[in-house]
Amino acid sequence: MHQYSLADAMTDKGNFTVPKLSESNMGFGVLGVFLGLLLEVSTHGPHAVPRTSWRHQDLDLMEFSEPEIFNYSTLLLSEKRDALYVGAREAIFELSKKNVTVKNNKVQWTVAEIPMVMCSLKGKSKERDCLNYIRVLQVVDDERLYVCGTHAFQPQCDYLNLADFSLDGRPEDGRGKCSFDPSQSFTTVMVDGELYSGTAYNFLGSEPIISRYSPSQSLLRTEYSTSWLNEPSFVFADVISEGSNRVDGEDDKIYYFFTEVSVEYEFFGKLLIPRVARVCKGDLGGQRTLQKKWTSFLKAKLVCSMPELNFVFNVVHDVFILKGADWRDTVIYGVFTSQWGNVGLSAVCAYNMTAVEEVFSKGKYMQKATVEQSHTKWVRYNGITPSPRPGACINNLMRQQNISSSLHLPDKTLQFVKDHPLLEDPVLPIGNGPRLITKDVNYTQIVVERVRALDGNIYDVIFTGTDKGVLHKSVVYEGDVHIVEEIQLLKNSESIKNLLLSSETRSLYAGSDSGVVQSPTAFCGRYRSCDDCVLARDPYCAWDPHTAACVNTVDVPSQRLRKLIQSLNGDADKCPSASGLSVKDYQRVTVKPGSSAELPCLVRSNLAQVMWKSNGSVLTEASRFHLIAENGLLIYSVAPEDQGRYECWSVEWAPAAGKNFSRLLAGYVLTLNVPARAPHQAGHVTTTLDSQETSSTHAAEGNGKTDRALLTSALALPSFTATVQLTSPPQTDSSLTPPPSSTIKFQPKQLLPLSSNTPHQDSRDPAAEYLQHNNSTALLFLFLLFFLLFLAALAYNCYMQYLPAPCLRLRAALLGSHKSAHQPEYRACEGGLMEASATDKINMTEQPTQNGSQTTQNVKALRDTGYETEPECGNGRIPSHTFGGDSPSQEKPFDVDCESQPIQFADADEPYC
Ligand SMILES: *[C@@H]1O[C@H](CO)[C@@H](O)[C@H](O)[C@H]1NC(C)=O
Ligand SMILES: *[C@@H]1O[C@H](CO)[C@@H](O)[C@H](O)[C@H]1NC(C)=O
Ligand SMILES: *[C@@H]1O[C@H](CO)[C@@H](O)[C@H](O)[C@H]1NC(C)=O
Ligand SMILES: *[C@@H]1O[C@H](CO)[C@@H](O)[C@H](O)[C@H]1NC(C)=O
Ligand SMILES: *[C@@H]1O[C@H](CO)[C@@H](O)[C@H](O)[C@H]1NC(C)=O
Ligand SMILES: *[C@@H]1O[C@H](CO)[C@@H](O)[C@H](O)[C@H]1NC(C)=O
Repeated sequence: MHQYSLADAMTDKGNFTVPKLSESNMGFGVLGVFLGLLLEVSTHGPHAVPRTSWRHQDLDLMEFSEPEIFNYSTLLLSEKRDALYVGAREAIFELSKKNVTVKNNKVQWTVAEIPMVMCSLKGKSKERDCLNYIRVLQVVDDERLYVCGTHAFQPQCDYLNLADFSLDGRPEDGRGKCSFDPSQSFTTVMVDGELYSGTAYNFLGSEPIISRYSPSQSLLRTEYSTSWLNEPSFVFADVISEGSNRVDGEDDKIYYFFTEVSVEYEFFGKLLIPRVARVCKGDLGGQRTLQKKWTSFLKAKLVCSMPELNFVFNVVHDVFILKGADWRDTVIYGVFTSQWGNVGLSAVCAYNMTAVEEVFSKGKYMQKATVEQSHTKWVRYNGITPSPRPGACINNLMRQQNISSSLHLPDKTLQFVKDHPLLEDPVLPIGNGPRLITKDVNYTQIVVERVRALDGNIYDVIFTGTDKGVLHKSVVYEGDVHIVEEIQLLKNSESIKNLLLSSETRSLYAGSDSGVVQSPTAFCGRYRSCDDCVLARDPYCAWDPHTAACVNTVDVPSQRLRKLIQSLNGDADKCPSASGLSVKDYQRVTVKPGSSAELPCLVRSNLAQVMWKSNGSVLTEASRFHLIAENGLLIYSVAPEDQGRYECWSVEWAPAAGKNFSRLLAGYVLTLNVPARAPHQAGHVTTTLDSQETSSTHAAEGNGKTDRALLTSALALPSFTATVQLTSPPQTDSSLTPPPSSTIKFQPKQLLPLSSNTPHQDSRDPAAEYLQHNNSTALLFLFLLFFLLFLAALAYNCYMQYLPAPCLRLRAALLGSHKSAHQPEYRACEGGLMEASATDKINMTEQPTQNGSQTTQNVKALRDTGYETEPECGNGRIPSHTFGGDSPSQEKPFDVDCESQPIQFADADEPYC
């Protein structure tokens, strides 16, 4: 019996907090928690918003695909040959690494008639499954690649000769090297000519193995047992070359990353757990015990959670190992989501290699214990571990004891590791929490590059690919993450299946079902002003005052680097103050009285707020005739008093610099065309904004009667210290207001999914538009929605004791005197409470199903905390099937005595709290 470590407690709390939100048979109280959690995550959660969004069509990305060929999901960069090898469905390509549109070679590998027929006889689809998906591409030597394909559910491998780009044509059995099923996850890595893989060994995909194929030695594999691997989903494997650096003479290790179904947690349904496992490269298997099996297979839990919010990311999707010169400088990056995908959060966690090594070399083992006859539980092993340490690689100490290979390991050690492959200690992330949390995206891929900025510091730049074809580029600055940009890499909204980075070509390569895309790692040239370049906080980019351009620092000779302006905290005050845009540069806009004028304004930064000024004073949304939408300004029914100077300013908050930076983006001079006519046209004004046709009508009106009258009065610019720049509209007199439809189109924010969450975009928020349209139904709906949200937030915050005394009194009244006596500990006990509900301390016999009982207990626990205050929640907007079903009728208090007892380890004999 030991105390839970803090991290364990946090994690486990989360494990049992989240599921109660997603199980469907829940009462209204759960909705409150769900909304509360989302509110809490969105208010307290450190989720980030990309500063800049680049659309696919705005960038000249290099793309490759061939007609009739799909699933370009296997990529391999060759340093030697300057090539990118691509494994697709029934084809392998050699593309130029510098430019993937250049195809140097291609070879096809199709499935013959007989295997195809066999495959379809087994019930697989001939068009989809019974083809040859190339899934393994590994370098054997300078002349050859090792290639494996699913080959109609009969995986095969072959050698590809690079000289003439042809397959040997003597296919080998690919079982255990490549998956049978093209959609099943798996991983391989080639180390010194030996192929390490994690995949399924059978047609059904039900027998997972981690194995090593070697031309010289016999196959080494995992034991077929759920304590070794339990329905794993492999994501990554790589070697860490520790050997040459270690004084103790331990050899290199291969690390595997996967998500599997946990054995150590009691849970109703499958609880997924992210894992790191490792084997030693020198492993030869045991002599009697563990013959031809790994003697060094150990695995541990990877933790990626937000402890302060009880939120756990328990599915790992991809891992990138950022290798340092020394293995101790290695950092492992992983992208995670939650098993309960509806929460819509993705996270990046980083792990210190030293911490991983520590867990494997010193961590406690877990063991299976039988409780209550048939029931087994995993608990910490507290007995004496045999020597040498089970699962350890052969080191100098063992060699002194005449154990020079795993074949000499004593049976006691081998038997122990066979039964105890799971370590109890988890691998905790650097900083105990995620590096990056993003809302409303599912990250699928990650690569990281170390960049030395001009301040001399090294920054890890994190590139994450999403299931919608978008790439995020983030940098961690003094512990806070900043998403520099989001890039729509793929034309269509499809998943990024593979992502590689080459520092040499300064490119990223993304593989998807429809093709391969190459993108530069930085788009410095697209930042047109010094402010923009500096506020981007991109460690690759700096402003060159000499050429007045934002440049990639790699392109600048080292002696000139000192002259560049870069500030990773986004302090744009370092920029030279540019001579501002003067009023004579303002665009003239002339309209008829009563018609409308639209003044576009392009704001590139999602972190900036737009501020419109008229005659030097700030326009507020309350201004009668001005509707701020899409950053542009639409002036309905222009009256004589509306004439004057209009300016679009961007105010960008740079948190790391602690300052606001204001910039003039566009200026207009609005004048009326005096000979007015047909005022009935003003009727258009009340039509909806989102109708493009209507807007265009206004534009036509605006453009039709162009009067070049200039406003002659010299108007002084407001005294802003920031530099001034005109980005958006063309300045020629003849091209007056562009059609408003185009002003809507050129907003990059429209496109990428994230941006709609940025707080400053209220004006573009559909909710806001509804309000402006004076649509009373919509208003009512909105009011109801916000009221419900408010209630939920109130209830939640009351429950969490964030609110002052009156609420607490109400809460006390609702909870009854017993609970109120323990108020201060309530929150601390919540974890124990969840733990208890999950470890069947509760009498479940009165409930029909396990699932139901878990839910009901939670519901009860929650209902006790005052959630009954908002029963309308359920009757309102939320579809009943989500929360219907099991009626929360049993109002019996959830009677767990939450005294200040510590939370104990999951052992049945110990009371929880
Ligand atoms: C292969 O690509 C096709 C076409 O995009 C897609 O429908 C299918 O799901 C992909 N299959 C796999 C196994 O990725
Ligand atoms: C990893 O941990 C070790 C020991 O605690 C420390 O010396 C090292 O700087 C850490 N590395 C990183 C990248 O955090
Ligand atoms: C190791 O083997 C050598 C030679 O076989 C033997 O002389 C020595 O005593 C052995 N040492 C141990 C610790 O068993
Ligand atoms: C993320 O993936 C889950 C499960 O596949 C899906 O339900 C959800 O809609 C996705 N979220 C986003 C923002 O794409
Ligand atoms: C701006 O100033 C001009 C001249 O001083 C005035 O006629 C006009 O009504 C003002 N416009 C606004 C919108 O304040
Ligand atoms: C920065 O600008 C925003 C938006 O205009 C404003 O709300 C905020 O108070 C400003 N912050 C400071 C420190 O000036």
